[in-house]
Amino acid sequence: MIDKTSLKQEYQALCEQLHYHGHRYYVLDAPEISDSQYDRLFQRLLEIENQEPSWRTAESPSQRVGGAPLDAFSSVEHRIPMLSLDNAFSNDDLLAFQKRINDRLEGDHDYRFVCEPKFDGIAASLIYQNGKLIQAATRGDGRRGEDITQNIRTVQSVPLRLSGQGFPDLFEVRGEVYMPHAGFEAFNKRAAANNQKPFVNPRNAAAGSLRQLDSKVTAQRSLEFCAYSVGYVEGEHFAQSHSGALSQLKCWGFLVSDLLDSVDTIEQCIEYFESMEAKRSRLPFDIDGIVFKVDEFAVQDTLGFVSRAPRWAIARKFPAQEEITELESVEFQVGRTGAITPVAKLKPVFVGGVTVSNATLHNREEIERLSVCVGDSVVIRRAGDVIPQIVAVVESKRPADAQTIVFPKRCPACDSILSVNDDEAAIRCDAGLSCIAQVKEAIRHFASRDAMDVDGLGEKLVDQLVDAKLITDVADLFKLQVHELASLERMGQKSAQNLIDALLKAKQTSFERFLYSLGIREVGQATSRNLVQHFASLTALQSASIEQLLEVDDVGPIVAAHIVHFFEKPENLCTVNALLDAGVVWQDVAQKKTDLAGQTWVLTGTLETMGRNEAKAKLLELGAKVSGSVSKKTTRVVAGPGAGSKLAKAESLGVDVWTEDEFREFLQHHA
Ligand code: IVH
Repeated sequence: MIDKTSLKQEYQALCEQLHYHGHRYYVLDAPEISDSQYDRLFQRLLEIENQEPSWRTAESPSQRVGGAPLDAFSSVEHRIPMLSLDNAFSNDDLLAFQKRINDRLEGDHDYRFVCEPKFDGIAASLIYQNGKLIQAATRGDGRRGEDITQNIRTVQSVPLRLSGQGFPDLFEVRGEVYMPHAGFEAFNKRAAANNQKPFVNPRNAAAGSLRQLDSKVTAQRSLEFCAYSVGYVEGEHFAQSHSGALSQLKCWGFLVSDLLDSVDTIEQCIEYFESMEAKRSRLPFDIDGIVFKVDEFAVQDTLGFVSRAPRWAIARKFPAQEEITELESVEFQVGRTGAITPVAKLKPVFVGGVTVSNATLHNREEIERLSVCVGDSVVIRRAGDVIPQIVAVVESKRPADAQTIVFPKRCPACDSILSVNDDEAAIRCDAGLSCIAQVKEAIRHFASRDAMDVDGLGEKLVDQLVDAKLITDVADLFKLQVHELASLERMGQKSAQNLIDALLKAKQTSFERFLYSLGIREVGQATSRNLVQHFASLTALQSASIEQLLEVDDVGPIVAAHIVHFFEKPENLCTVNALLDAGVVWQDVAQKKTDLAGQTWVLTGTLETMGRNEAKAKLLELGAKVSGSVSKKTTRVVAGPGAGSKLAKAESLGVDVWTEDEFREFLQHHA
């Protein structure tokens, strides 16, 4: 029998390790061990808890998976009401906010502002007693909320017990539960695959996930909790300022936004707002504004509250990302590869900072999923630079004369019968370059910024050139004459000459751009780059077999087949040759080295002379893969001082380990 004392010691050590690594992963976003190492520790913990169930506490890392379902949420009274915030919609509103503060303080106090994101999720209140999470509640009506303790326990960034020391015996942390974009998109993808209703936006997803009676469901959703204030504190408060309180919370293990800033003036608040507005679309979660708070608690106390909001804080909102408008009609557009895309024509609406009058409806499945009709009121979402989407229909507002959307049977551009491909969800026109719409799209793609970058050849001009029969394919572009162009409507001598100059300039290109500009199906910029690095010359690529193409990074059988088919077609070869004859050229490409092709290397510890990034770049250059975790498949580990678990694992698996000196010597031979 295993000695119980040593098993208990192992169990406690595991709890500590999982607590530590969980915090590094979910709160600090700086893991020290691989996911599989974490999983192994976790499995061992479960094993011991199964054997000795009485050792399991509510704070055990195993308790994040959810418990028995509830019949209903019970109600919880907040010790201090959870208030809301006043809104500011302009800089003038912010100046007025500052004036109200100064008038009240009559110049008696010095104070600063803390600027922080306004998370677009659900407010939650967490109560800790003796460092352990004992209760969590929603905001509810501000006085009473719902008890969501079981659900909050499944949110990985919520500490079940606090780290460090000095926390009050009983206190309350407030913050926002939200679903980051990655989790939201993954959820909706799964929902679509299982014919379930997706969530309209991350906030609804967070709310829906948090209000599950079965906490095992909540545990499946990727939620985060970010602390933004302290509520009730038993005894004396542990901080004198908001920023001080948040730093303390961070030390005890809470996730606190790293976007916070503390400033002296309202003008700096405005600057912060502007810089965050520019950054907003690149953040990994939704924020709907910025909150400005007076930092000093003493000043906050003097200012107090008015009705349901503090006088010492305000939320400056960003323009809304969702609006409701009317679907006036649906147009069917033919894409470059013949796919027919339904495009919603909307009553113009201001959303996400721009006026939107078109939105893609993607395909027939999307129309069915939304069950949208012409005449419906629809919810439009435009987040960041993402193209506007119809995310839902307001069914209660459907007019009596709403019309079902009917997909055409024939191509709206060339009248060929459309084909339906079951596994692609797409309806296509197979007429290829006999379809005028596809010819135009191919030319637009060829001239676009990331392809041949022909300055000044916009959408309208392509329409004019094709409609006037001046060009029928991309190679014709280089045969255009100034007088032909100048004869077009809205084209003068000067703009005609400018286009000719731009075409001349575009001829000097790179192999990568040229390949991308051909518009081979499924060959985007990244694939073009990989193909060019692998084959280095057009002749090599044109004569490559499927097997040879499959050796290229990220090229699968479908892409490989598209490439082979493209170069098999005589008309495509004709176009390629005509382009080369017209003088399209590029510099030779240095072929990627393949010395370490097929090998996987791991770097660990401190590489003292070159650093890990440089070492990684060198390995990638030589064709190796660089991985973050050691397995049986690892070719070699380079370990510097401070190497820990990865080195140990390599040794236990018998994987070859090199010092940095050995690695450098090796590189000298492969320079
Ligand atoms: S402070 C008394 N800070 O905005 C001050 N609230 O109307 C109370 N919110 O539903 C709130 N991010 O959940 C504060 N950084 C932040 C916030 C924030 C989001 C939400 C909060 C509440 C609403 C306030």
